[in-house]
Amino acid sequence: MSAKQFDVVVIGGGPGGYIGAIRAAQLGFSVACIDEWKNASGGPAPGGTCTNVGCIPSKALLQSSEHYEHAGHHFADHGIGLKDLSIDVKKMVARKDAVVKQNNDGILYLFKKNKVTFFHGRGSFVKAVDGGYEVAVAGAASESLVGKHVIVATGSNARPLPGAPFDEDAILSNDGALRIGAVPKKLGLIGSGVIGLEMGSVWRRLGAEVTVLEAMPGFLAAADEQIAKEALKAFTRQGLKIEFGVKVGAVKVGKKGVSVAYTSAKGEAQVLEVDKLIVSIGRVPNTTGLNAEAVGLQLDERGAIVVDAECRTNLPGVWAVGDVVRGPMLAHKAEEEGVAVAERIAGQHGHVNFNTIPWVIYTSPEIAWVGQTEQALKASGRAYRAGTFPFLANGRARALGDTTGMVKFLADAKTDEILGVHIVGPMASELIAEAVVAMEFKASSEDIARICHAHPSLSEATKEAALAVDKRTLNF
Ligand code: FAD
Ligand code: NAI
Repeated sequence: MSAKQFDVVVIGGGPGGYIGAIRAAQLGFSVACIDEWKNASGGPAPGGTCTNVGCIPSKALLQSSEHYEHAGHHFADHGIGLKDLSIDVKKMVARKDAVVKQNNDGILYLFKKNKVTFFHGRGSFVKAVDGGYEVAVAGAASESLVGKHVIVATGSNARPLPGAPFDEDAILSNDGALRIGAVPKKLGLIGSGVIGLEMGSVWRRLGAEVTVLEAMPGFLAAADEQIAKEALKAFTRQGLKIEFGVKVGAVKVGKKGVSVAYTSAKGEAQVLEVDKLIVSIGRVPNTTGLNAEAVGLQLDERGAIVVDAECRTNLPGVWAVGDVVRGPMLAHKAEEEGVAVAERIAGQHGHVNFNTIPWVIYTSPEIAWVGQTEQALKASGRAYRAGTFPFLANGRARALGDTTGMVKFLADAKTDEILGVHIVGPMASELIAEAVVAMEFKASSEDIARICHAHPSLSEATKEAALAVDKRTLNF
């Protein structure tokens, strides 16, 4: 079998891989993208974790469960009466699956449009060859490819608790958590990070009694402390129970569900009995089946591919992006790295600014931030001024009936350059984009304060928080 020749071979079709492949094709290269994800009927389902069991399906279920919560608890405030409200979980999950499929099909269409050759199967290194690398594809058909450049974008997998492997029935990773067939009476979660909060929100809204066991003594260590405190208050009010500072011990699956032995922060031995357990304690880089050893591709002690600041591996012409390398495990970070690598292969100056990568947690209220937290600024000794504005004083938030939370600005004390923006509240995921643009352009808080924002809009809270840095809010 003679090998098919490409300028660029991309292994992995998640946000890092498929976006990198499209950008490389736009730049005039011949590009192959290999992805092994299968849909329920065994067909190709490109888009990776993000599209199949991550960003997209979780947001679909968050939307459905939020509608249900609004119908049950908030419609009455608007004078809307409902009788016999019910939830058809199977239909909700089927809708989520349809949204996923639209995205899978969209990516296959984009490959055709951009002339990226797609291979459905597992890609693995065979050997270095003259002027590139041979990569084997094992799928419905076997193929041999040679790429002058190879971009590895093989993503990450959920980390299991020691001694408690995922069975996706009683002990669930993000995969099983997104296709529970009926609302569990009692749901346990290990880890109050991003997945714990988003998945905990979905099933709590649908009626599950949710308990989260968290190893750390505090809540959302990566977020600004003031914002995390405000968010925790809101989640506790909604009925989400989180126990901090626990040490999880033996997990046993029985006929009636799962029992989790743990030691509380006070040192007491406890047992949590639940119908289902979601384990969301972080993710590990995935290089399964890549055959990295065949070419001497260097991995670190966590199993991540070692790269420099520009995503170059130890091998000339081999690059790696996204969850399989250092940095935050976020879809948009993977995409930016994919684009930057394609541009570097083309001799351009692709760039990813790690200081302006936004974080969003799609709970209600949503949490979003960019830049530095107040505790980080204090620790580094940087002089700063802070300004906050509560949604309670924002007209649009009042009209929406969603006044939880605030916008917070942190700006350099001397130059007024924006150093961080933190939001907890309605549509934080959309509002944060203005802060990202401002920081990318090195704006000052005064720049935002002087820009005309539409009235009534949630974005006025952003302008007011910027005004608050100079202690001159107009509506509070
Ligand atoms: P992946 O998306 O994991 O894609 C890797 C692909 O490579 C997969 O399709 C895999 O099958 C394939 N592959 C692996 N090895 C091989 C091989 N040898 N040959 C062929 N194919 C291979 N991030 C956000 O920014 N926003 C969110 O809202 C968000 N929500 C999330 C919700 C959940 C529940 C989870 C689990 C994650 C979420 N993330 C979110 C994180 C996001 O999904 C990841 O950061 C992102 O998918 C990483 O992209 P990637 O391209 O590096 O890898
Ligand atoms: P995470 O890193 O966000 O949170 C893990 C939590 O589990 C931490 O609070 C940690 O202290 C805790 N923990 C770790 N070991 C534990 C143990 N043995 N017992 C109890 N608690 C323990 O990881 P998570 O939630 O699994 O998500 C993985 C990643 O996926 C995220 O970090 C993020 O990068 C990505 N993601 C992004 C989303 C978004 O952008 N909206 C949504 C979901 C996931």
